[in-house]
Amino acid sequence: MTPLNKRSREISKQVTQANFEFGVVILAAGQGKRMRSPLPKVLHEVSGTPMIAHVLRRIRESRPEASVAVVVGHARETVESFFSTSQEFKEMDITFIHQSEQKGTGHALQCVMSSSWGEARIAKKQPLLVLPGDLPLISSQMVSQISAPLKKGEAMRLLTCNLTDPTGYGRIVRKGKSGPVLRIVEQKDANERQKAIQEVAVSIYFFDSACLKRALSKLSNQNAQGEFYLTDVVELEQKSRMKIGILPWPAHEELRGINDLWELTLANQWLNHQTIMKWAKAGVKFMDPQTTLIDVSVELAEGVVIHPRTTFLGNTRIGVGTVVESGVVLKDSTVSDHVHLKVGTVAEGATIGFKAKVGPYAHLRPDSTVGAESKIGNFVELKKVSIGDHSSVAHLSYLGDAEVGSHVNIGCGFVTCNYDGTNKHLTVIEDQVFLGSDCQTVAPVRVGKGAYVASGSTITEDVPAGALAVARSRQINKPDYAIKLKKQKPKK
Ligand code: UD1
Ligand code: CA
Repeated sequence: MTPLNKRSREISKQVTQANFEFGVVILAAGQGKRMRSPLPKVLHEVSGTPMIAHVLRRIRESRPEASVAVVVGHARETVESFFSTSQEFKEMDITFIHQSEQKGTGHALQCVMSSSWGEARIAKKQPLLVLPGDLPLISSQMVSQISAPLKKGEAMRLLTCNLTDPTGYGRIVRKGKSGPVLRIVEQKDANERQKAIQEVAVSIYFFDSACLKRALSKLSNQNAQGEFYLTDVVELEQKSRMKIGILPWPAHEELRGINDLWELTLANQWLNHQTIMKWAKAGVKFMDPQTTLIDVSVELAEGVVIHPRTTFLGNTRIGVGTVVESGVVLKDSTVSDHVHLKVGTVAEGATIGFKAKVGPYAHLRPDSTVGAESKIGNFVELKKVSIGDHSSVAHLSYLGDAEVGSHVNIGCGFVTCNYDGTNKHLTVIEDQVFLGSDCQTVAPVRVGKGAYVASGSTITEDVPAGALAVARSRQINKPDYAIKLKKQKPKK
């Protein structure tokens, strides 16, 4: 064979490996009793994302076109409605398979293999990657390595690892110390000698689908939990003299399965630490990483400084050089460059412009926009408000359903009276308006460009551009009246 031929054979082999198709099964029908929570286990969030969505992201990273079957049962409507409401996995080929009674992980696979989805995998000779929905920290490397083509004679491949504390996991029982794998023994079925085994299975498998179907038909539930265990397939294949491939994986937090809320806490803590480390290496300064929470979906730019006790959730984006002081909570908000968010600022669904200053203790509610170099001061609440550039709402104000222009100054204690008990109405404050302290505007109302509004005014009618509006009663001074009143007071 010429070198050229050899090379082309290698290339075609690589292509076959990359293109070979397999199905993916995610186990998500269990109730997760140990979570002691009404929320289905796989919907509990790790770093702001439901566990099952983490698993799907890892699949998408290595196999975006894979056909995925999600086994649902307990609270299946809730799990399915997560997928129908979230846009994220719309592009993926996902089929739900109903396991009406949860009789164990093996029974879940029996439901899969007797479904038309499972039959199609067998007909197409596609192997199956099986993952549990409660392993949110798995890496895409794991997914791609476990799902390499099976070797000749192999019925399945199994990912194993050695844990210092293997409690709760299925133990790998081998012939002798390091001989072939004979079976997996679950924690509840294990004797003391087996409990001491540190090599465990973590429910990550790759199966030949026809072999799997055959083995599943022989499963029994004669065990401590009265369940059909998927892990028993190992012993059945071994007895049928089929080969079982092992993918040893170093013990790592990525393999943590979540069975109770403490494990969920540990997973959150680990992923948060990873996220903070990633951003710190990308040029973000954390004053106290132990007390900052950042969802995986958040994006931070270089030069951002983050003080203690801060929370960043959802699709929050923060621009270059922005300083975030203590106690700030941001959700789904976009913060531009060189912004200063002062102590205790809370923002949800807000957009904050270049060099703006917000807080301390400001509350920006959904659909609020603050323009460049504007200032939102202490105890100011905004809801569905746009504020132009170089404007100031510096103290103790509420603005709802309002459009505020640029170079506007709003004095202390301003309120937009936007709600008549049934409907919300719009307030428009045009560019360069100056509102004195302690004013109210009763919407719908418009204050024209450059107008002045005198302190203490309640504005119920539009103010023309350039006008001065005074809407308060005129002051009367009664000379010496106070002295007279004091004299009338009876002496004690
Ligand atoms: C399982 C394995 C165990 C392994 C561990 C790793 C079995 C019998 N045991 O135990 O060897 O060490 O995972 O994390 O497989 N599920 C269904 N239908 C059911 C039961 C469970 O879909 O009838 C789903 C659950 O929703 C969950 C996954 O299967 O996502 C695993 O179930 P779980 O009860 O957490 O199994 P473990 O006890 O952790
Ligand atoms: Ca589990």
